[in-house]
Amino acid sequence: MITYRFLTQHCSLALAVALYSQAALAADDLKADPDKRAASTVAAMTLDEKIRTVFGYFSSDFKGVAKPKDGVPYAAGFVPGVERLGIPHQQLTDAGIGVATQPSPAPRVRTSMPAGIASAASWNPALSYAGGAMIGKEARLSGHNIMLAGGVNLQREPRNGRNFEYAGEDPLLSGVMVGEQIRGIQSNQLVATVKHFAYNDQETGRTKVNVKIDDAAGRMSDLLAFQIAIERGDPGAVMCGYNLVNGYYSCENDYLLNRVLKRDWGFRGYVMSDWGATHSTIPAALHGLDQQSGWPFDQSPYFNDALKEAVQNGHVPHKRLDDMARRILRAMYANGLMEHPVRIEADKIDLNAHAKVSQSAAEEGIVLLKNSAALLPLADTYATIAIIGGHANVGVLSGGGSSQVYPAGGSPVPNEGPKTFPGPIVYLPSSPMKALAARMQAKFVYHDGKDAAAAARVAAASDLAIVFATQWTAEDLDQPDLALPHKQDDTIAAVAAAAKKTVVVLGTGSPVTMPWLGAVDAVLEAWYPGTNGGEAIARVLTGEVDASGRLPATFPASISQLPRAAIDGTGLSKEARFDSDYNIEGAAVGYKWFDKKGYQPLFAFGHGLSYTTFAYSGLAARATQGTLAVSFKVTNTGKRDGKAVPQLYVSKVGGGWEAPKRLGGWDKLTLKAGASGESRVSIDPRTLALFDSRSNSWKIAAGTYRVMLAEAADKPVATVSLRLPARQFAAGAR
Ligand code: GLC
Repeated sequence: MITYRFLTQHCSLALAVALYSQAALAADDLKADPDKRAASTVAAMTLDEKIRTVFGYFSSDFKGVAKPKDGVPYAAGFVPGVERLGIPHQQLTDAGIGVATQPSPAPRVRTSMPAGIASAASWNPALSYAGGAMIGKEARLSGHNIMLAGGVNLQREPRNGRNFEYAGEDPLLSGVMVGEQIRGIQSNQLVATVKHFAYNDQETGRTKVNVKIDDAAGRMSDLLAFQIAIERGDPGAVMCGYNLVNGYYSCENDYLLNRVLKRDWGFRGYVMSDWGATHSTIPAALHGLDQQSGWPFDQSPYFNDALKEAVQNGHVPHKRLDDMARRILRAMYANGLMEHPVRIEADKIDLNAHAKVSQSAAEEGIVLLKNSAALLPLADTYATIAIIGGHANVGVLSGGGSSQVYPAGGSPVPNEGPKTFPGPIVYLPSSPMKALAARMQAKFVYHDGKDAAAAARVAAASDLAIVFATQWTAEDLDQPDLALPHKQDDTIAAVAAAAKKTVVVLGTGSPVTMPWLGAVDAVLEAWYPGTNGGEAIARVLTGEVDASGRLPATFPASISQLPRAAIDGTGLSKEARFDSDYNIEGAAVGYKWFDKKGYQPLFAFGHGLSYTTFAYSGLAARATQGTLAVSFKVTNTGKRDGKAVPQLYVSKVGGGWEAPKRLGGWDKLTLKAGASGESRVSIDPRTLALFDSRSNSWKIAAGTYRVMLAEAADKPVATVSLRLPARQFAAGAR
């Protein structure tokens, strides 16, 4: 038995206190109560050890600062541990699509999930969890215990270069899908990170833009996505973003960090900055930032000696520094980082099995937008098939920036795009053409599509033309418009005019316009489909699997339908600071904006065709436990097995909301031909409420509400109405 006396005779008093209290903690407390463990360890830390814990480094040589010697090479970040107290190094890696590698001579080969927007398009939370669990396992086996994944920024702006990393325009769909990814990642005893908090919804001037948005509008849109993701995933960390919000940088924004996140939502983890998003010492520490990340990305090492001095001078209370360190340690204890130390064991990564996990998400995220005369799934009767563009003979596209995952053998298209960040453009060596050729008896002819007339001649000489059109999107880079780049619209139009039948497969990170839509027979949105993307596309095209993706974002018919003609900041100098008034649309993001304005989009939120048909019956809703419980039956009335994605939109009779309707819930059912299934869905009560800033609470008004069962935001199937009593609940409740 270690006695207190023994300890005080053999170590410092502070350490004795810590070790004794640690030893005194019952074993089950060790895991069950990370708060107690964290408080106990902080009590034993010296001032320098606390400072060491709240100050993080970039894990590559950068701006003349060498990579930390104990940092995992080419990773995102490193924070030294405190060995004498059993605190491991914090080894940070990006990100939501897989274990990324900072540009380096020898990038790590890891599995790439499909783009976040593709996973969201599956509307299948179980696949998000599985994908998170897989990339988290690869992160652990790569020597990382903190993953900077869980990007949940809303697609407020369809031209945002990072839309591919996120989960679309609706806060409920985004929050659930990213929350499940976070839960999956943390199932590997890692800390996951929900980001970029908040309103980092464009890349143009991302470190200069000041977003203006009212409290209530934000709570019912971007903040609700974060709130749901945090509820579902319980991430150890939140990453604050680059932009300003209502005049204050996100990473020193008392309203966002202390009031909303930590007070209203009761967040017990820690806030890390984005790389280069820390702008001060005292304001940042007092307003809720717990860790500066990625030195030397910032102007100054604010949370190193400067913070120590601020604490010693009393400008930052010592208890605030204790709170910072405790939050970090709590996240580490809560996720088992001390009991499960990481080490690099990359040879244990089962890349084949992991590719299948990625493929499942890719297949269920592919959205069949158009299918005239049931051209798809492809019959195996074509003698010659022309494959045009998109480097479809060698691979599939991926998005650029810090989330970049590198494939085995490197990109099969090595020299496209910027040579520096957020480039290079990386293709993943999974060829749709090869995958089709392995399944069909046709002769395949490839043309790169760069010369529209030549491509049209190849198409004319074939029995079917499949055009692969791509749009590379990336961090730090917004799209200038909604058009496909590099004159691909011309190529598609020319091919469609010459071919007997034309299929278009889109590999985009965001919604695009389609001036050729009327001239083609079928369109698939395959996004960036990940490591086995070619297989996934081929399996959907040939009908080995149903097309079961549904759009997580509205596809506008034109830019004139958007809240702003150009992204704010477009054309300004890199140094210019500017406002972006998100109050124009407020909480009416995406389909809510289109409904509010009465606009007809090209394709609606939730749209997606199947290879079979479904019938719905028995829609019923009842008020229970402060919300609505909805049930209905779905029947596969077609001849093929398929997956249905019934959606539930709620609205208040008499209006008063930011928009006519909101997604309140959904289901996804796999049904054999002729089979039926029952769905029971609980509506998230916040989708029935307005946020009231004065009382800082959600309020469901007494009245009549409609529940619309639909196959898309513009495709209602059945509606029921019922009265609900008034209900008020706290900002952090549901
Ligand atoms: C980047 C990104 C962030 C990433 C971090 C580390 O600039 O904004 O998503 O996790 O830096 O690479």
